[in-house]
Formats: sequence, C-alpha cells, structure tokens
Amino acid sequence: MNELTSNELIGSKDGIDVVSGLPVYPLGHHEPRRADLDPKVAKRAERQVATMFGISALSIIGAITCYIVVPNDKLVYIPPIGPVNANHVTVGVLFGLGIFLIGTGAIHWAKKLMPDVEVTEERHTYTSSPEDKAAFGETFREGKQASGFSEFKLIRRTLLGAMALFPLPLLVFLRDLGPMPGTKLRETIWAKDIAIVTDATYRKIRPEDIPVGGLVNAVPANLLDVEEQDGNLNARGKASIILVRIAPAEIVSQQGEGWDYQGILAYSKICTHVGCPISLYQQRTHHLLCPCHQSTFDLADSGNVVFGPAARRMPQLPITVDADGYLVAQSDFHEPIGPSFWERG
Ligand code: FES
Repeated sequence: MNELTSNELIGSKDGIDVVSGLPVYPLGHHEPRRADLDPKVAKRAERQVATMFGISALSIIGAITCYIVVPNDKLVYIPPIGPVNANHVTVGVLFGLGIFLIGTGAIHWAKKLMPDVEVTEERHTYTSSPEDKAAFGETFREGKQASGFSEFKLIRRTLLGAMALFPLPLLVFLRDLGPMPGTKLRETIWAKDIAIVTDATYRKIRPEDIPVGGLVNAVPANLLDVEEQDGNLNARGKASIILVRIAPAEIVSQQGEGWDYQGILAYSKICTHVGCPISLYQQRTHHLLCPCHQSTFDLADSGNVVFGPAARRMPQLPITVDADGYLVAQSDFHEPIGPSFWERG
C-alpha cells in the first residue's frame, strides 16, 4: 500500500477532507452589511463603539473615586438583598461596568466594522515555513488595516484610554492588603524567662514530665494575655512549639550551643515550607514529618531538612529551666519562623 505524502495528508481532495474523511463544504454567499455599504452607518457604529469605550473609562475612574471617597462602613439598602456595604457596591458595579463596556465595545466593533468575509485555510504542517511566517506578518498587517485600528482614530484613542485605565483599580486595591508588616514576621512573643506551658491546659512543664522519645505541644505562658489584648490568633500561629526529648548522645548538632536542656529540644511547630503545623514525630529516627507536603526534618541534627519541598530547617528555640525547675525560653527565636517571605534572608 502506498503511503500518503505529507501534501496528501493535509487539505482536501475531491471535496473530502483527507484527514477526517468528512465532506468539505463550499463557502456560503457573503452578504455585505449596511456598514460596508453606507459610510454614514459605519460612522454611527464608530461613534457607538467609541461611546462604550469612553463610558468604560469614566466608569473605571468612578470606581477609583468611589473606592477613595465612599466610607468603608457605610451601608445602603438594596431590595431584595438588604443592607450592603456602599463602598463595595459602588466600586464593584463601576469597575464591572468598565470591564463589560470594553468587551461589548470590542464585540460591536468586530460585528459592525471589521471584515466579516468567510475565509478558508488549508491545514498545514505544525512547523511554519519562512514563507508562511512572512505571509502571517502580511496577513496581520492587512488585518490591522482592515480592522480600522489606524483609520478610526476615535475608537483607537478611546480604546487605548480605557485599556490604559483598566489596571489602575488593581493597583489601588493593593491598599487593602493592609500596612507593611514591619518586624512582625521576624518576632514572636517568646522572650527570656517566658515559661513554656502545654498547649491544651497551659500547665508549666518540668523536664521530668517529658520522657526520652516523648513530644509535647507547647506555647508561651503569656499567650492568653496577648490573645486577649490582640483579639486574634496571630501570636499563637507564630509562637507554637514542640518539645522533644532525645538522648543527649544521639543529638548530632543544634542551632546554638546549650540551646537544649538535658536533651529536651524546642522547635517551632510551623513548617518552613508553607506554614502547616507539624507534630508527626518518629521517635526512632528523630524525624519530624509535615503532613501537608511531606517535608521531613531531623530534630537530632539542627532540624535540618532531610526530605521534601521545605527549603529551610525548623527554627530552634533556646530553652533552660528557671529557679523552680520549670522549662523557660532563653530568648525569642534567632531566625524568623514559618514560610519564606520577601525579605527573609
Ligand atoms: S507545609 Fe510542610 S511540607 Fe508543605
């Protein structure tokens, strides 16, 4: 059997598509539109499109203005929805209208003024030849000419104006991300002599409460006061730790000299990948496994990453005991806890 040549594999033969085997139908009769025949109709269509782009630009400016001047706590009553935030409604409606009018203006332009002749294009091989690329460039130039982008100055200018304003609200909305965090991402409420208490019962912990191989979830003793004052759980999210006890002979390294107490090590509970809380601990290997993406840290070797997507070790909290024999922090963490952020070294 003769194989088809690449030329035979594309296009049609005797009215049949050689690839699909389906009939290829001839193009229908083209009926010119009124705008094709009557310059006045074309001019009117141009004005309609320009009006849509112009109102779009005004809507976007209005959205930015409302975002700035309409108080964020003002409510308006919209039946049947009820009371809604005036700032959100005005910004949303005007910004939405701006986007909608850019879209409808473009559709109206295409339907009324751009060429609507049907064309056929033979299937071609995947890689374009230099001639095809040159032809594409020529077609693009012809299309640009035919679309009237150069000819209809009013449309061009209003479209460019609307498109130029379109991203502005997105920049203004960045303000809603809130103030810059300052040092908040670098500090926790741990400090020298802050007692370490159990996470669930807020009970102080003595070294003898933790057997070798054991793990305790813990928080700073001042956490409840801080939460009451702040009214949120941010402090807990950063200060939660785990305590593990490893036989001192099995500890390979720590992040600082004397940061353990008789083999009890304190590490942040927040994964350095994207911040999941971790407490899956394998006593035999001293590995801490994050359930989210399986990052694994060796707590007997400075909390270094031994597997998974985390790029940094788990930060270690230096601990000791106070005069009454309870575990306390020596200081805050010496490096930011949790996942990466832009200024973290
Ligand atoms: S959050 Fe821990 S591995 Fe992704």
